[in-house]
Amino acid sequence: GILATFLTGALLLGGSAAAWGQATPITIKFSHVVAADAPKGKAALQFKKLVEERSNGRVKVEVYPNSQLYKDKEELEALQLGAVQMLAPTISKFGPLGVKEFEVLDLPYLFKDMAEAKTITQGPVGRDLLAKLEPKGIVGLAFWDNSFKQMTANTPMRTPGDFKGLKLRIQSSKVLDAQMRQIGALPQVMAFSEVYQALQTGVVDGQENPITNIYTQKFHEVQKHMTLTNHGYHAYVVIVNKKFWGDLPADVQAMLTSAMADSSAYFTDLAAKDDEEALAGIRQSGKTAIHTPTAEELAALRTALLPVHDKMKDRYGDAILTAINRALG
Ligand code: LMR
Repeated sequence: GILATFLTGALLLGGSAAAWGQATPITIKFSHVVAADAPKGKAALQFKKLVEERSNGRVKVEVYPNSQLYKDKEELEALQLGAVQMLAPTISKFGPLGVKEFEVLDLPYLFKDMAEAKTITQGPVGRDLLAKLEPKGIVGLAFWDNSFKQMTANTPMRTPGDFKGLKLRIQSSKVLDAQMRQIGALPQVMAFSEVYQALQTGVVDGQENPITNIYTQKFHEVQKHMTLTNHGYHAYVVIVNKKFWGDLPADVQAMLTSAMADSSAYFTDLAAKDDEEALAGIRQSGKTAIHTPTAEELAALRTALLPVHDKMKDRYGDAILTAINRALG
């Protein structure tokens, strides 16, 4: 009769609502420190788009770019407290958490190209590194492989000696500290959001970053020289608060995992293209002299920097460097 029809209808509606519709909405606050139109910024928005489409709006992703919500050091604390649910810090920012093994990826000239880097981040070594985050209340979901870093300063950088005495901003990594000291520079840890002003006022003379960060943060407007050293690897680790992640319904976790995999692929397609476009933008601005090192200059810089690999073994542990060298054959 009518009652049976009504009850069946209610059950069907209730069922679909329980799947994605009216069930309790889930909000993911995704905070990061780069410009919205940098590769990480765009990939975060792509993740938001995929998640909100695939969950029919049941899962909301709020993206807070450019250190709007939290800056470097604060964002990791906020994630561990559960004040935000997702971040994508660079590989160079996990030392202060006590996960020092990540800093092996900061070694200068560790990888000869992106293929080698991805063999490591997307393979067993990368998976082992992500697992080391769990005891810190963090789940590592993915590596977003960006590109290599370049050096900028207000004086030309052609030989290792040109870095002597330069005050260079670095991320919070002991390996990056050792890298700069190895070529006579004076490293200074600073939040990414403070770098532009520090360059503009001369608090530091230069810094290292991939070209897209240099361009989207307008560092080229306050740096007279950039040398395309490609000396260090730049990648992101997409992480979530472990309790938040563990409390999610299995179907939501599966949907997020799939959306993350698709966002990682989207990031990979972006990174190389965006670096090229950013380089063209810097060149057109005419504000920064761009130096492409000769083969000899590159060899001299590599030779000058390679001792850091041995010097910093105690920081990240010989085992992971051995695993990397074995994986790269
Ligand atoms: C930095 O230098 O801190 C940046 O590279 C950070 C980032 O997220 O790219």
